[in-house]
Amino acid sequence: MKRTWIIVTALILIGLVSLFSHNIVFAKQKPEPSFAKNLQVLTFLKSKKELKSWMDMIKQSLGVNCSYCHNTQNFASDAKVPKRRARMMLKMLVQIRQEYFSFPDAKKPTCYTCHQGHKVPVNMPPGGFKNFSDN
Ligand code: HEC
Ligand code: HEC
Repeated sequence: MKRTWIIVTALILIGLVSLFSHNIVFAKQKPEPSFAKNLQVLTFLKSKKELKSWMDMIKQSLGVNCSYCHNTQNFASDAKVPKRRARMMLKMLVQIRQEYFSFPDAKKPTCYTCHQGHKVPVNMPPGGFKNFSDN
């Protein structure tokens, strides 16, 4: 009799623990944001409004329209090369902002920091550098 109770109690405990850890595991997974289908870098955004503010920043920084990167009938599509290039840039920028500009009141870099309104930023002074190779 006593042994049966030990087994029953043990089984209930195991059940509770597995239920609990199941919840922990699934709570950790980020839910797919409802406002976008194909975010691979800006996964920390919480609303469509925030996403729009990032897209406006990008647009203004490069001096382009949304259609430079997007098929405006399907914003989730990665068909355009500039969008895929921009995603790499975004990954770099987000990492720089998070890792190196986390101090209080940091003026975090944006795409404008480098691009200054150009599709391809100016990365050399007029006439180039002396004794500097890109590689
Ligand atoms: C220089 C390229 C570029 C420009 C210009 C740009 N975007 Fe984006 N956009 C991106 C990239 C890259 C992503 C994906 C980001 C990611 O993977 O986290 C994206 C994602 C999006 C998404 C999410 C789509 C989905 O469902 O996954 C929307 C909506 C969007 N952009 C709207 C806009 C609008 C509106 C504009 C103009 C105001 C704009 N974008 C301008 C590069 C651009
Ligand atoms: C550290 C400086 C820097 C930052 C920050 C930066 N870029 Fe760039 N970007 C460059 C340079 C340099 C090139 C040119 C690279 C090349 O073509 O060889 C470039 C090229 C690009 C191109 C390709 C242009 C073309 O026609 O070849 C896109 C698109 C782009 N950047 C988008 C962005 C977006 C969007 C952001 C912000 C999320 C961003 N960049 C932030 C330096 C930067």
